[in-house]
Amino acid sequence: MQKIVVEGGAALNGEVQISGAKNAVLPILCATLLADGPVSISNVPHLHDVVTTAKLLAELGAGITVDEGTISVNGKPGRGRGIVVDPTTVHSHVAPYELVKTMRASILVLGPLLAKFGAAEVSLPGGCAIGSRPVDQHIKGLQALGAEITVENGYIKAHRNGRLKGARFVFDVVSVTGTENVLMAAVLAEGTSVLENAAMEPEVVDLADCLNALGANIEHAGSGRIVVHGVERLHGGSHDVLPDRIETGTFLVAAAMTGGRVTVRRARPDTLDAVIDKLKQAGAQIEVDGDRITLDMQGKRPRAVDLTTAPHPAFPTDMQAQFMAMNCIAEGVGVINETIFENRFMHVSELQRLGADIRVEGHTAIIRGVERLTAAPVMATDLRASASLVLAGLVAEGATTIDRIYHLDRGYENLEEKFSGLGASVRRIAG
Ligand code: UD1
Repeated sequence: MQKIVVEGGAALNGEVQISGAKNAVLPILCATLLADGPVSISNVPHLHDVVTTAKLLAELGAGITVDEGTISVNGKPGRGRGIVVDPTTVHSHVAPYELVKTMRASILVLGPLLAKFGAAEVSLPGGCAIGSRPVDQHIKGLQALGAEITVENGYIKAHRNGRLKGARFVFDVVSVTGTENVLMAAVLAEGTSVLENAAMEPEVVDLADCLNALGANIEHAGSGRIVVHGVERLHGGSHDVLPDRIETGTFLVAAAMTGGRVTVRRARPDTLDAVIDKLKQAGAQIEVDGDRITLDMQGKRPRAVDLTTAPHPAFPTDMQAQFMAMNCIAEGVGVINETIFENRFMHVSELQRLGADIRVEGHTAIIRGVERLTAAPVMATDLRASASLVLAGLVAEGATTIDRIYHLDRGYENLEEKFSGLGASVRRIAG
């Protein structure tokens, strides 16, 4: 198994280009199932989860073409790698356990398969490292649109009699993929649906933008109340994926922790308000210029920050581990409250192996900044936890070896190359 070795000590300096957002491209790939013609998607990051989703779509019968060049979107050149999905050859509606167990986001084919083909069978995602993560909101939302759903033999089995019917549905909890699944199904329903207490994440907006480009009629995505006027069909088309705000935030935190100066390019600063605020509190100078964000720490040690994770636009749970890594070497004491996932402090014991001073009380972690961390072998436990270990490695004395890095490959494109380009020593070795 491959490992990553991070040599600590260098202050990051330079520019880095941000990739397309993992959490936007996954629902968008699944949304192509709803269309009557090929859909071209550009700015697609090369990530393990993208490959898994493409495999799932291919297994359902869709044609997949990867275009390493540039796909043009609405007459303008798109950014980066593209994928064209041709859903006209889909012949199966089963998402098997073997694929779903490796990636929870596979649940995102449920709504589209049901709405377009009348039936869907999707394996229950099961447990996962950061908590039990139920899918009851996905099921209830689709039932509100008239779907009949049973859970048998570990599979969610859904079908509809006639078209789905537009309805008002209030989510009990704010769920990102739950909102996306119900939204995708409502697009082809008869009449209007109103989704209340919907997730407001930028990735939901990007999905809605893509669906609208294919002929859907969705209003107010990005608010807690999304209105969907159902249409009979979606046509083919193209979409350019939103830049990844979590990757952006991760590089900004890396710059802040190492006392460096980094410019991220092709970012969407407006999706990062809460993260930028916290970096300013930590003492960083931040300048935003169009799609570029420059963070300058001027060689200073960051100040510890307190934060509480909550649905967008509040502070994202996917940035919690990285800020914890920063607090580990900051001046002062930082208190982090995790309110989204019940078991998302697994990076704590690994950070402690590097010499961090962290106390966990329930959903709260109290981090007392230390002057220095020291390298140790550590293990990645989930995607963002792994990112926090790379960040801690950047400031630790010596060479930190991170095992189980397949977690990182699920969500960070060209991680070693990007960090190396900023002057860090991050390299991959055979395990
Ligand atoms: C998505 C993101 C993930 C991010 C998370 C929270 C994708 C592919 N993944 O995950 O990176 O960390 O949002 O921002 O976009 N819940 C229920 N019932 C449900 C669904 C969720 O109780 O049916 C609970 C979950 O257990 C959790 C909370 O709601 O406590 C939020 O989860 P949710 O927003 O659904 O996370 P995901 O969509 O799985």
